[in-house]
Amino acid sequence: MSLIEKFGHYRTGHIEVDAAHFEMFALLYLAKYIKNKQILKELIATFKDLWKVDTDLEEKLMQEMSYPYMAHHINDHAKMNLRINHIISRPITTDTYYVLMDLLNELLIHFEAHDKKLIPFLEALKTK
Ligand SMILES: [Fe+2]
Ligand SMILES: [Fe+2]
Repeated sequence: MSLIEKFGHYRTGHIEVDAAHFEMFALLYLAKYIKNKQILKELIATFKDLWKVDTDLEEKLMQEMSYPYMAHHINDHAKMNLRINHIISRPITTDTYYVLMDLLNELLIHFEAHDKKLIPFLEALKTK
């Protein structure tokens, strides 16, 4: 099964959001196979950049549409920001791999619980 197929379930239907989500998913999915510490550091830094692009876009969309679950959604972004900054501040050890797998789970839970709810809401507003 390709990574695109594995990601399929988490698709929101918003092209830019899905592009950033897929890149984040693929980076963390592949992280466990990267043994070179410098490359792994670069991967984590790239993940942070993608997370910022994604959350900035979503928060802008939510503000424009006065999304009713905005506070809850932004709060989850903030929790994840803290997790990512914590990971970046620590040296790479064997634990880093477990931490990144936990982060991937949390990322997928966020897509499912928050992002998949947001995009259909915005699409419904457009058709009103
Ligand atoms: Fe997102
Ligand atoms: Fe989000």
